[in-house]
Amino acid sequence: MSAQRPARIKGFADILSPESAVFTLLETAARSVFARYGFQELRTPLLEYTELFARAIGDETDVVQKEMYSFTDSKGRSCSLRPEATAGVMRAYIDAGLNARESVSRLFTLGPMFRHERPQLGRMRQFHQINCECLGSSEPLTDAEMILMLLDFLCEIGLNGLALKLNSLGCAECRPRYRAALTDFLSGLKQGALCPDCARRAATNPLRILDCKVDTCRELTEGAPKFTNYQCSACAEHFDMTLRYLEAAGTVFELDSRLVRGLDYYCRTTFEVVSGDIGAQSAVAGGGRYDGLVKSLGGPDVPGVGFACGMERLALLMAAPQTEPPVFFIAVADNSALEQGFLLARRLRHAGCRGIVASGGMKGLLRQADKSGARYCLILGQDEAALNAVSLKNMDTGQQSLVPQVDVLSILLQQGFL
Ligand code: HAM
Repeated sequence: MSAQRPARIKGFADILSPESAVFTLLETAARSVFARYGFQELRTPLLEYTELFARAIGDETDVVQKEMYSFTDSKGRSCSLRPEATAGVMRAYIDAGLNARESVSRLFTLGPMFRHERPQLGRMRQFHQINCECLGSSEPLTDAEMILMLLDFLCEIGLNGLALKLNSLGCAECRPRYRAALTDFLSGLKQGALCPDCARRAATNPLRILDCKVDTCRELTEGAPKFTNYQCSACAEHFDMTLRYLEAAGTVFELDSRLVRGLDYYCRTTFEVVSGDIGAQSAVAGGGRYDGLVKSLGGPDVPGVGFACGMERLALLMAAPQTEPPVFFIAVADNSALEQGFLLARRLRHAGCRGIVASGGMKGLLRQADKSGARYCLILGQDEAALNAVSLKNMDTGQQSLVPQVDVLSILLQQGFL
């Protein structure tokens, strides 16, 4: 009886080639674009005390209420796998005292996040984000620059036609006024009219009802008060300026008063980039301003704005890049030639040449060489080994000739393979 296979956890994926090459491409493009905007990489732990996420993201959010992977450590403290990067970046920023070192910190983070959601296309329990935060500037120009940096990144990876949605959520002065008006409006609705999630949110987080996807909830909130009638002049001006910078840069966007976002730290500008081609989980990136967050975590009163892209969702929109085939495939068909084959491969690789060395039966080796896409197959049997030579086969033309092993590198060089 064969042993039972260990199962993979639902919603956690292995990323094999060629998808892994898409991930590498995304990371390389992100690093290159973000460097142009002066961003530096920050790597934060995957595990933090749960309290950090509860305080930063909000006790009442779905992420904190239902979606975190949490456990109690041996000292009785609750720890959680990070469901997003922003909270950890804020903690790291405060810990390192970065505000004392620089007036504006531009930080990016790449890596896995964990949310216990119902898995579906584009929604995983372990997923990967490319996350950027700019701390220290309250200027609308910074909001616009962050959005433009995100669009530049999407353009760099060949995704130009995605929709950018924008909204403003106001500040500690005007949002409570709007929240009160919205609560008043919701209390006038018939009991049981809203979906169960929204019925709960009506008391805890009424703004989230605006972005509920259930048709009846959307219809019922058509006549809800509009935030624009409640926002303070400072917030209105901030948003107006942000839009003006975006327009000046030729950016196409759509205003969406239902764009509320699922994390509590946002104020003023919020945004999402959505695709119509990846099903229900259409947001490939989301972000916004979060002035007051650093202070609420015991740090200095420093404003911030940022965004994160979901790498799995971006990967759904991208074709796998062509992988470069190996230049050589050394087929060692006799045990007496093993050491020569291994040392020849080593010499060629040290010279910068990509290739594989394998041993076994000749027929199987030639099949492997063909499948690998290698330009040259270097056959090393008993006869070749005795002469310190290889039979060099050009896999395109099928031509084969016996050449001394010491000449192989210069032949490959002549062919322009290095
Ligand atoms: P978020 O909207 O929760 O924002 O996530 C950002 C992006 O991560 C989403 O647009 C989506 O592409 C991807 N994403 C989220 N959950 C999943 C999932 N379960 N499976 C696959 N992809 C997912 C944030 O996380 C904020 N921290 C962004 C931010 C940074 N705001 C300011 N700074």
